[in-house]
Formats: sequence, structure tokens, C-alpha cells
Amino acid sequence: MSDPIPRSWLDPALPVEQRIAQLLAVMTVQEKVDQLHQTANLDADRDRDLIGAGGVGSSLFASGATAGNERDTGVRAAAVNACQRVAVEQSRLGIPVLFGRDVIHGHRTVFPIPLGLAAGWDESLAERCMAVAAREAAQDGIAWTFAPMMDISEEPRWGRVAESLGEQPVLAGRLAAAMSRGFQGPSQGLANGSIAACAKHFVGYGLAAGGRDYNTVGVGENTLRNTHLRPFKEAVDAGCLTVMAAFNDVDGTPMHAHRHLLRDVLKGEWGFDGVVVADWNGISQLIEQGVAADLRDAARLALDAGVDLDMVSGAYTAHLADLVASDESDMSLLDDAARRVLRVKFRLGLFENPYTASGTTDTPPGAENRALAAEAAAGSMVLLKNDGLLPLAADPGRVHLTGPFVHDGEALLGTWVLDGKDEEVVTPAAAFTARLGAEALVVTDGRFSDVAIAEVRRTDLTVAVMGEHPCRSGEDRCISTLELPAGQLAVLEQLAALGKPLVVVVMTGRPLELGRVLEIADAVVLAWHPGTEAGTALVDVLFGDREPGGRLPMTFPRSVGHIPTSTLQRPTGRPITLEQESRAGRYLDAPVFSALPFGFGLTYSAFRYGAAVSSSTVLPRAGGMIELTVAVTNTGRRAASETVQLYFRDPVAAVTRPVVELLDWQRVSLAPGASADVTFSVTAEAFGYFDGGMQRRVDTGLIELVVGPHSAAGQRLQITID
Ligand code: NOJ
Repeated sequence: MSDPIPRSWLDPALPVEQRIAQLLAVMTVQEKVDQLHQTANLDADRDRDLIGAGGVGSSLFASGATAGNERDTGVRAAAVNACQRVAVEQSRLGIPVLFGRDVIHGHRTVFPIPLGLAAGWDESLAERCMAVAAREAAQDGIAWTFAPMMDISEEPRWGRVAESLGEQPVLAGRLAAAMSRGFQGPSQGLANGSIAACAKHFVGYGLAAGGRDYNTVGVGENTLRNTHLRPFKEAVDAGCLTVMAAFNDVDGTPMHAHRHLLRDVLKGEWGFDGVVVADWNGISQLIEQGVAADLRDAARLALDAGVDLDMVSGAYTAHLADLVASDESDMSLLDDAARRVLRVKFRLGLFENPYTASGTTDTPPGAENRALAAEAAAGSMVLLKNDGLLPLAADPGRVHLTGPFVHDGEALLGTWVLDGKDEEVVTPAAAFTARLGAEALVVTDGRFSDVAIAEVRRTDLTVAVMGEHPCRSGEDRCISTLELPAGQLAVLEQLAALGKPLVVVVMTGRPLELGRVLEIADAVVLAWHPGTEAGTALVDVLFGDREPGGRLPMTFPRSVGHIPTSTLQRPTGRPITLEQESRAGRYLDAPVFSALPFGFGLTYSAFRYGAAVSSSTVLPRAGGMIELTVAVTNTGRRAASETVQLYFRDPVAAVTRPVVELLDWQRVSLAPGASADVTFSVTAEAFGYFDGGMQRRVDTGLIELVVGPHSAAGQRLQITID
């Protein structure tokens, strides 16, 4: 037997790059390839020989879990520890396995779906939520999550908008950075309850044609750079350790083979030194996409493009060693990929902490985590209409609570929930009962017999919780209409006809067509899929104990036929202005404008904006900064918060620029009658963009600023960059 190799790389005092170099220097080609292989559901008993041979660099989920999107029994730290023991104690080099799992909007404690978190427009809150998710996941043996997702999309038919952070690059980018920081913590260490984040899906996935998942994408690099790549850049700059390649192609080149975007832009231009992970079978799908002849060809293309870690397709383990031996793939590419995987493991402290201390966990959400979940859920809820019915009086009389989800924990959790438990959700029925007592409540499921209607007639007010079950949103859950699910509108019409006050709460993972609902209801609250504390937050918002804190992170079109109507639109030669529809570029049979604009959301009070004042009308191009100040007054009778939004338009640029683009926002909380000055610092750099030659530039000339309560209302101010 040969002498054991001295494991000098285990010395935590050495710089990470040195540790990696020492380890790489003793690795065989096959051991390097093995680091690039991610398997699913590793099992210490079944896979002992494979793990012992060092054959698994990473695994999704763990023993006892089922692959894909299914809900399962949960990962247990004990299963992870058992695998790690084999990897660390029995394999030649003792390299621990990197365990990943989709911890998307919470682990055991479930926060609102990402689109709901985005509606909160609150970076600090998003960061705190993901820090909790990381702590809970780390206790369960998870070292890496496949989140945040930051695909920009203006396509509500696409089920994955539920996982996204909205349509505006500044909002999505800041939240993506905040969520990455939340998952990874200040120290990026597993020892501190942090896990690795993953910026996904790189890039253009939200442009899937027709809103059909996985569909092809025809987009130019300029649009990618000025819009879709921006949140990824923010996440990478925030230190996000990994990036996932997208399933789609970009103008004919599948992203798993896109050398220019992965290797030149992400790794080269941006200096990203972490791991690019494939999406599930993304490498083998190069065959179906028609650019690879077979799995070997797919492996060669993906490695060349810069995909470091193969999620489950097996292409790398099967073929990379041979590709390198035959000089069809360069050894330096293999070394680079292995170096990146090891770098993430070292940065996480996985070599020092391969085992999860708690052993086995089955810890329900604690009070502190639940309080945060309630705060986030209320903060995500968007008040779309209020005829004065809300907030409800402390004693509202007999309340009729109805709808398909009032008892349904699973429906309230939202898409991509693997470890949250239905029975741990506070449902609307439970929260209303706790608030009003069972005698003051009539709960129905939204299907009315004559008997039920007679009962409903004896109540004073209806709260109807309608909308989509989360099985209609998420991966591969796309729909061709945006109407409420079958029968719901008819029920609402029936309730409205009773003449009793009607509050409609909409649970949804996407923008829906709500025109008729907004007409017939007295108040409408958009609640997304709120998570573990759904009922608590809803009752708090309806009774005014908390504000409905959300603002729309996506434009709501009037109907499917109106898509696209988002803020991502750029001007045509016959432009449609913000205030009025032009006579060109419209539909003959319908208005082209959205039903609800990006940024929209009412409060329980009213706000007046004073005249916006700029500290100068000239903004020096080099390092310049001006301050834009607007006085905001709460003219209503309740304390409330206003989300003051700053947009801009660049009227003359080298390429067409959006008609309206979010620049910044601030939230201000005011007592009734109180005023505050809201000041934005505006730098010239913020107006930079990429021109047709893909050069970033900041032009001199006019910029139009718009400050107001949402993207379709506000005061304009002109400044000049000089
Ligand atoms: C496929 C999805 O596209 C991706 O977002 C997810 O992280 C992986 N499956 C792993 O579950």
C-alpha cells in the first residue's frame, strides 16, 4: 500500500488559492472529473463504493428525497453526514461532497414566493428572510441553494415568474444581491449557518417565446446587457458563489454551450471565479437542442463553454477523461472547472465542517422565524382597490370567509416548497377564527348551494380568497389565459349580487386578468402565495394592524392578448407616451396600456407630493452627483408608508432605451398630517448603458426624471449630463 498523501490543503491558515493548488497537484484526471459531477439523492449505503472512490463532487437533495419538483420527506442531516463520512474518511483525498437543494423562498419556515418578496421592494427584509432560510437549511445538512432566481420577464403566462424578482433590472438586481448576501452571510461560512447561493438562470430564460417554459429565445446582446444581465452582475458583485446556466438558447446557441456569454462575459469581463452549474440535464439536452451529436459531444461543448459542474446528466463523468486524453478538450479547461468547484468548497469551509452538528433535525418554525414570515407576507401584499371598506372595523359583524384556499396550507405556501409543512401554515380560516371567534364567522369553500347562500345572506361582509393554486405556477407550469381559474369569477359575481360588502383577496404566482374583479369588489388585496404565516399576515392587513406593504413588481396586462405591456418596452418610431395612446402601434379593438402599472399599490392613507427640486440641473459626467428632493405629505387619517419611486428616460442615446426605467426608490413612513423630504442621490453613472458595439458609456445630454407613486404617474424634471 502506498503512503498516505500528506493533506497540506487541510491547513485553514493557508490562503484558499494555495490550498486549491496543493490539492489539484495531487489529483488524477479522473479525480478532477469526479469533482465536476453532481448526482441526485446520494445514499451512503447504496452509493458507498462510488463515494469511497471520490466519484461524487456534489449531490442534489439527499437520501430519502425524491428528485425534481416533487414534495418529499425532507433532507436529514444524518443522511448527509453518513455520505460525508464515506467521502472524507474513505476516499483517497477525503474531499467532502457539496450538497445542494432548492431552498427557494424558505426552508422549513416559508416566506412569500420570490415575486411576492419582490413586491416588498425591501432589500433588508429579503436579506433577513434568506438568512433564516440558510440557517434552517444548513441545520439540515444543505450547503448550497439554487437561488435566487433573477430572470427578468414581462410574460405572465410563464409559470416561473413566480420565482422571479420582477421585470425591472434595478429592483431585481438589488433584491438578488440582498438575497445572495442573506444566504451567504457576511462570512460565507457553513460554520455560521450560511450556505452558498446561486444566481440563476443565466441568461434570457424569462424571454421564452410565448411564455412556454424551456422555449427558444431570440434576443440580441444589447438587450441582454442593458436589461437581462444586470441582476446577474449585481449578484456576482455581491459575492454570489455560483451561477446556473439556463435551459434556453440565445439566438440559436443553447446557454449550456454559450462560450461567449459564460466564458467571455461572466468569467472574463466580470471576473466571476465561482462555479457555473448546469441546470438539470442541461448538458445532455444539447443533443435534443440539436447542437450536439451525442453525450460525448455535449460534454465537450459544455466544458468549452464554461459549464463547470454537470447536474445529473453524467456527460462529464462518462466522457471528459477521454476527451482530455484525446486532446479534444483542453486539460486547462478541466483544471479550471475543478479549481472552481474546490474554491466554493474551501470558501464555504466545507473541509473544516463537512458534518452537520445537529445530526437530525425536525424543527418546526420558531416564533422569531414566524414573526419574520408574517412581516414579509404583509409587506408583499398589494392593495389594488379600496372603496373605504378596509381596514375592517375591529368588530366587523358576522364575516363570511370563502374560497378554495381558506383551509389549504399547501396552496398558501406557493411553488418550490420542499421542506415547509402544510400543517404548519396559519390558514385564513384559522387566523380569522383566532381573531373573531367561531361564532362571528361563516366559512365556506366557495361553492354555493341554496342553503349556503341563505347562510351567507345573514352575514355582514364577505372576504373571498380566490386565485391560483401554486400547481399553476413554477417550473413547466405555464398557462395560456390569465383569467381566474374556472368558476371563480362566477362565484364573485354571485357574491357581489348579494349587495354585501365584498373584499377579494387574490392568491397568485403571476399577474392575472383582474379587470372585472376590480369592478365588482369593494376592496382587492393581492396576496401572492404568502407562505407559513399567510393567514396571520392577511388578517393583520385586512384589520389594519399592518400595512399592505407591496407594490407591483410586474406590470399587469389587461389580458393575454395585450402582452407585452411592461416597462421593458422601448420606443418605436411612432411612440406611445406614458399619458396617452398614440394613434399608431395600438390595437384597433382595445387599449394597449396595462391594467395595472409597474410599481402600483395603494395605502390605507393618502399622500401628496410637493414640487420636486433638483440641487442642480446639470450633472457632471465624471463622478457627478445631484440630489433630487420631493416633499411627501400624509394627507389621510392613518399612519402609513409611501414607496416613492424615481424613474427616468434617456431621450437621445446610441440605442433605443426604455420608455420608463426604474432608477431608485425610498419608503417613507408618516403619521397623519406629517411631511418628510425624500432625497435621492443621482449619479451620472446610473444612466450608463451599452451601445451597439457593446461598449458601456455615459452620454452627455438630456435625461428626464419622473418621481411619483408608480411607473405611470409622477412629476417630470429634466437634467443635463455635462
Ligand atoms: C431545474 C430548474 O430549472 C432549476 O431552477 C432547479 O434549481 C433545478 N431543476 C434543480 O432542482
